[in-house]
Amino acid sequence: MFQAAISANGDIVTLTAPDGQSARFHAIWLRDNAWDDQTRAPGNGQRLIALRDIPEGTHVTKAEASDHNVTLTFAPEGRSIAYDAGWLMDHAYDRADTITPGDMPEGGEAWDARLMSAVPTGDFTAVRSNPDARRDWLAQVTRYGFAKLTGGPIRDGALFDVVDLFGHVRETNYGRHFEVRTEVNPTNLAYTGLGLQAHTDNPYRDPVPTIQVLYCLESSAAGGENMVVDGFAAARRLRAENPAWFDVLAGYSARFEYAGEAGVCLRSHRPMIELSPEGRLQAVRFNNRSAAAITDVPFEAMADYYAAYRRLGQIIDDPDMEVSFRLEPGECFLVDNTRVLHARKGYAGTGTRWFQGCYADMDGLRSTLAALQSPRLEAAE
Ligand code: FE2
Repeated sequence: MFQAAISANGDIVTLTAPDGQSARFHAIWLRDNAWDDQTRAPGNGQRLIALRDIPEGTHVTKAEASDHNVTLTFAPEGRSIAYDAGWLMDHAYDRADTITPGDMPEGGEAWDARLMSAVPTGDFTAVRSNPDARRDWLAQVTRYGFAKLTGGPIRDGALFDVVDLFGHVRETNYGRHFEVRTEVNPTNLAYTGLGLQAHTDNPYRDPVPTIQVLYCLESSAAGGENMVVDGFAAARRLRAENPAWFDVLAGYSARFEYAGEAGVCLRSHRPMIELSPEGRLQAVRFNNRSAAAITDVPFEAMADYYAAYRRLGQIIDDPDMEVSFRLEPGECFLVDNTRVLHARKGYAGTGTRWFQGCYADMDGLRSTLAALQSPRLEAAE
């Protein structure tokens, strides 16, 4: 049985669960988060009132708890509203734990090269036809920031079938998708064989595309493995080594620019390490090819900024941080482009390589995942 106690002036209610856990709630928060049919639309759950409809000085005059519910009476409205006590405890904000700058986002797990033995992977047919397999594959993307998908069709445009599993393509000035075709032969090997430093794509966009899909259609050249690095793990390692360097990259904006085609001049100024207001890691942007002149760092901090930028690059280049894998035709991988950096390794032989890439967004993926995890919500749509 739940128990509820009201503070002397009625502005705080303390709820205690049968297991002894308790949490304090403000009267104004409780009133704003009522689920009665005058506050929330019964069908879609949208809030029917604005804060201006709740009187200032709202307080609780009576609280009655039962096995699963707590009923609160609010003054000066004079209304009694029933709450699901379990829902309240699930949404409690009265926590002792504090967030340290650089903490992972909720549900995220930092990784390094040791993940190579367990690369998150799904099977295309299973993920497409089985909701549980789809849920598990999408959950891996939110946990690790990337995942492979194997056993897909080998045809032009197959990458759109992958995006259809969770969301929608983000079209850009590069089109709905882009081609990555390489003929690897002895005459151009020196050029095409070069690996690329791990990077996030398109940091010059704001908002940045939050998912990239790279789909393999041909891969006869030896080498050319794909490689990923957890940008959040790299940022956390930088902070462990030198908190001041972490702070300088998180505290000032970098600048990124792409003006490589007629009529396009994309610019952004955003930090290389972006934190939520609470201090959790929110995004990493790292791309030497589109880095523009940094002008938002004060003169006094610029030397430290460059030292921190150099060190972050060294951490990203450290083989201990990377997970690499080779993609065969019909296989692809997907990265959370706000977190995981990607790269291609150099080639060792001759042959052809044909990949197609496109962008999509994490909000659609998270939405699909949440609906699969809560069938009740999906049914209510
Ligand atoms: Fe890229």
